[in-house]
Amino acid sequence: MNEDTPIVARRVDLGFPTDVPRHWAGDPVFTRISDALSLLFPAGEAFFIQAVNHYKDRIDDEELRAAVRGFAYQESMHSKEHAAYNAMLEAQGLDIGWVERSLKTRLGIARRYMPPIMQLAFTATAEHLTATMAEGLLGALREQEQLARAHPRMRALYYWHAVEEVEHKSVAWDVYHRVAHGGVVRRLIAQVWVTTLVLINVSLAAGWMLYRDGLLFDLTTWRRSIPLLWGRHGFFTRMVRPFLRGFRPGFHPRETPVPPGYREFVRAWDGCTDALAASEQALAAH
Ligand SMILES: [Fe+2]
Ligand SMILES: [Fe+2]
Repeated sequence: MNEDTPIVARRVDLGFPTDVPRHWAGDPVFTRISDALSLLFPAGEAFFIQAVNHYKDRIDDEELRAAVRGFAYQESMHSKEHAAYNAMLEAQGLDIGWVERSLKTRLGIARRYMPPIMQLAFTATAEHLTATMAEGLLGALREQEQLARAHPRMRALYYWHAVEEVEHKSVAWDVYHRVAHGGVVRRLIAQVWVTTLVLINVSLAAGWMLYRDGLLFDLTTWRRSIPLLWGRHGFFTRMVRPFLRGFRPGFHPRETPVPPGYREFVRAWDGCTDALAASEQALAAH
């Protein structure tokens, strides 16, 4: 475990009022990609928890056992909050129930027929992906004006979620390598698989929501969004290299440094135990 980023069990209940603007992040494409990810989280994180828990009785190291418990707590709290957020999207008139239902069915099939070691490899690399996104987001919260304009409650959700993804990013990785001895080749296959599935699922869901917004074929929207997301210093462009590091056979998620904004959030949380207030205070501290 990393002493710099210990796993903390935080109880969070943000509540999502329906008056959150439809394009809460300002940019519609960025908003809908975030929304699409949110649709994947409840079923995805439930899958991750069971994949890791399958091996928990084989863990001798007390520290890793405690980390697995912390990981499960954090992921179930994320699922709960993202389910509430997804319900808000439905209440705003977006018919996106099919995204969650179809993912749940597919993951149910995977749970039944995929060997547990492959489910764990899948989880370890998916956690590397979420940690990469979390680290990218924490950096961007400070640098990109775009996010400064995001709705505070939504920003708090993603800030808190990102902080906890950093804290537990190596748990599934360590269980996979140190306990299940799953090997590098399987992990690399899983990384290609996870990347492809996430890209397809997020593109389909985000595309659907943009279609419902009447913006999918709106060139002005894309002309503004593409540089912001995929330009030279774009939000996603900057995540590509850190994510690809996972393909190095000897890579470990703890190699990447503690991202900016992490400590500010943790300190603020300790003082108020409220995600919204902690997020605002942490951002003001810069
Ligand atoms: Fe999570
Ligand atoms: Fe996670």
